[in-house]
Amino acid sequence: MKNKLKYVVNSVSLVGLAVAFSIANIGGLNQSALASSDEEEAYEAKQHKLGERHREYVYGVPDVPTAEWVMSSGGRLYDNWMNALDKEAPEGNHPAWPASNTKKQGANTWRCKACHGWDYKGVSGKYASGSWKTGIKGVTQMHGTTPSKMVTILRDDTHRYTSEMISDVNATRLGMFISRGLHDTDAYIDRKTGKTNGVASRGAKIFQNICASCHGFQGTKLNWGKGDDVAFVGTEANANPWEVLHKIRNGHPGHEMVAMRPFPMETAVDILTYIRTLPEK
Ligand code: HEC
Ligand code: HEC
Repeated sequence: MKNKLKYVVNSVSLVGLAVAFSIANIGGLNQSALASSDEEEAYEAKQHKLGERHREYVYGVPDVPTAEWVMSSGGRLYDNWMNALDKEAPEGNHPAWPASNTKKQGANTWRCKACHGWDYKGVSGKYASGSWKTGIKGVTQMHGTTPSKMVTILRDDTHRYTSEMISDVNATRLGMFISRGLHDTDAYIDRKTGKTNGVASRGAKIFQNICASCHGFQGTKLNWGKGDDVAFVGTEANANPWEVLHKIRNGHPGHEMVAMRPFPMETAVDILTYIRTLPEK
């Protein structure tokens, strides 16, 4: 593990964040995905309805948020802030979405990951090619900068996120995630082959004791695919290990999935390595 991945959080600034975060709101029912024009998200919402007892975990804020919670919360916003906050998608494409990319449109173009990537490297990473290609730079250069800077960035002419879409408090959480909570995907996943360098036998112990409570021992009890096109844990981990590593660390926005953020990075990589051996169909 690279040393730069271990971030020490200044306790003084944390107190400030804790106060700011305690005023954040708890959302209502997750109907935004159904109201959105994005067919895939509507499908996802139908597949899995959030139970009453999970709402606080998914939309709430702890009384005294730890740095780890703030960073995983920021990670879920980076993934899909609309699902994480139970908000409707803005109209049309994000204004910075390039006309050259006609493969993706609508709500998906408003996700941070759409332009900056699951590897956080933008055009210098996986999104240099493929259906998500935009030519937009990554966010890794923000490492170590002040989290509240994100408020200014999100309100700038490029981003145009209003405070109704993403509040200042949530922008600061995104700032915590990006300035202190990123990992270097190249250290764990081979960029060309997607092969991961964790220890599967260690990952198996964790998967069987934690992940299986929702996904089953084979990772097949939750299926977010359509018809014959199934999507299990094993399917996703093989198709896109960069995305799955992000979700193992930060959880899955709008769902009660756990976040492994408080544990060492190696733990997440071991889990990822193991789940790539689980059934894909
Ligand atoms: C539709 C594409 C798009 C989306 C979606 C998007 N960005 Fe960006 N982002 C850009 C572009 C383009 C730049 C480069 C702007 C520049 O260089 O002036 C950028 C730059 C950045 C930077 C670097 C700023 C700097 O000074 O180096 C950060 C950090 C950032 N974005 C964070 C985010 C976050 C957080 C989200 C989600 C809430 C987000 N972006 C969503 C297009 C996007
Ligand atoms: C408390 C229940 C719960 C636990 C524990 C849990 N998950 Fe999940 N997970 C979910 C739910 C719910 C979804 C969303 C399924 C859907 O979209 O229908 C999900 C989605 C996923 C996805 C797919 C995300 C995508 O791309 O759409 C992956 C991969 C995943 N989980 C892996 C894991 C791993 C690995 C662990 C253990 C570290 C784990 N989960 C633990 C509930 C859980």
